[in-house]
Amino acid sequence: MVRWIAALVGLAFAGVLAIALVITVSGVVSDSTPKIWTGAPKSAETEFHKHPRDAGLSSAGVFGKFDKQQLQRGFQVYKEVCSACHSLKYVAFRDLAGLGYSEGQVKAIAAGFDNIPSVNPDTGEAATRKGVPADHFPLAFANDIAARAANNNAIPPDLSYMTRARHGGADYVYSLLTGYQDQPAALLKEFPEAKTPNGLHFNPYFANLNIAMPPPLRSEGQVQYSDGTKPTVDNMARDVAAFLTWTADPNLETRHQYGFMAVIFLLASSLLAFGAYRNVWRDVKH
Ligand code: HEC
Repeated sequence: MVRWIAALVGLAFAGVLAIALVITVSGVVSDSTPKIWTGAPKSAETEFHKHPRDAGLSSAGVFGKFDKQQLQRGFQVYKEVCSACHSLKYVAFRDLAGLGYSEGQVKAIAAGFDNIPSVNPDTGEAATRKGVPADHFPLAFANDIAARAANNNAIPPDLSYMTRARHGGADYVYSLLTGYQDQPAALLKEFPEAKTPNGLHFNPYFANLNIAMPPPLRSEGQVQYSDGTKPTVDNMARDVAAFLTWTADPNLETRHQYGFMAVIFLLASSLLAFGAYRNVWRDVKH
């Protein structure tokens, strides 16, 4: 009797697992939100939104490691292009040592920012000063009102944790930056009311397809790399995506190493436990 119940419970368990597997696999294969289940009506977003393309970063995957040279290039792109609108307020200059910069280089980078908010010691009035390694990156705009005024009523979000905040992470940032295009004719034909409004830009990787950010990386050579890498739009986008992966997860490599060691440890202890089991029951008939 008990055996039968156990067998039934086992079967039910296996059944649920099989259903979960089928759902997961079909989800991955169709690679889109399951419209049939949510019953979402057709719209420009459901039909024309694209999933991020693989940026092919070396940090991806369980054994992923950062390419420090690439992180430095990405930092350069952030500094020379993105920092005009986006802050990086959770990152301190001294953290940049993690990109392979020496203490002197970090000091020089910090001192290169002369807009760190400060107070004039004589008058008490607001002033600015040069950065030191302990400072965080300065804000791009004094406040949200100024940010909106300069960006067609949209606020450029802080980028420190962006690759963690969006589905697709670095791949999303890379795809977004390289994904600007004209609105497809098929879209306009099917959904004429979804025409990109004035002041916005069509980008199929952005959730609602129309983004307030003008394409920030437009032409090859916008940034001059010193390590010989060709500054194509594609490379600049990939490099800044790598840099933003680092700002959001600077301990990624250590995490991966610990994960690997934990798996080795668990495997070894399983082997030991199995050996002990064989040893203890060696002379007992069971
Ligand atoms: C001229 C200002 C400007 C520049 C330069 C700029 N951005 Fe933006 N960015 C914006 C604005 C405005 C938004 C908000 C868009 C919206 O909500 O429609 C935004 C949004 C974003 C987003 C978030 C999209 C989302 O899913 O919400 C990312 C990621 C981003 N920018 C990355 C970058 C990177 C990387 C660079 C540098 C290569 C850059 N931006 C340069 C103005 C700018």
